[in-house]
Amino acid sequence: MILKGKKTILRPLRMSDAPRFVKWLADPEVNKFANRHGVTLAEEKEWIRKAKKNKEEMSFAIDTKDGTHIGSLLFFPIEKDLGASFGISIGDKNYWGRGYGSDAINTILKYSFEKLKFHHVRLAGNGVFDYNPRAIRAYEKIGFVKEGLLRERFFYDGKYRNIIPMSILESEWRKKNGKIYSKTKKLA
Ligand SMILES: CC(C)(COP(=O)(O)OP(=O)(O)OC[C@H]1O[C@@H](n2cnc3c(N)ncnc32)[C@H](O)[C@@H]1OP(=O)(O)O)[C@@H](O)C(=O)NCCC(=O)NCCS
Repeated sequence: MILKGKKTILRPLRMSDAPRFVKWLADPEVNKFANRHGVTLAEEKEWIRKAKKNKEEMSFAIDTKDGTHIGSLLFFPIEKDLGASFGISIGDKNYWGRGYGSDAINTILKYSFEKLKFHHVRLAGNGVFDYNPRAIRAYEKIGFVKEGLLRERFFYDGKYRNIIPMSILESEWRKKNGKIYSKTKKLA
């Protein structure tokens, strides 16, 4: 499946994407925000092969509108009619802070709320690391709300770190996007 945003396109992963993921995941500036670090080309190809077959997640590559591959987004439609989660990584640092991540997130939110009729979407992996202000700002800009704090959940770079769970409700996303919405699904 292909989802089109304003600045980005979410498309299925390809085996030919693997070398770029290997390069990005070897970069400490990138992988300090990720759950996967330093993978080999063979491991990455195997990861892509499994991700494409996994029925419980939808894995996308993020391309710019001109077809440059800049990252990935994993979407987990967890509880039907209730909640989904996602994880995102813009692996190409040249594209950080330029609105591409927010656009990719808004694209998956539009799909989650308009097409799949989810009620909320939350961050995968329990949330965002507290030392990731760019991501926190991007999520807040879109309308995500902090739900609390998972205290000292892991150890990184000499310190215990917190994880911040964040989510956005369909109504919050609608409000932010200025759309008038009439529900088509019957609420229980
Ligand atoms: C997090 C991520 C998806 C955000 O995408 P992006 O395209 O960089 O984000 P955007 O440009 O849409 O928004 C980033 C915002 O943070 C701001 N920002 C950038 N660096 C910042 C910093 N150090 N502190 C605070 N805000 C910062 C930007 O100015 C921008 O806000 P603005 O639009 O109000 O100016 C992307 O940076 C990324 O993939 N990073 C590496 C992996 C990662 O962190 N994944 C998320 C794990 S939870």
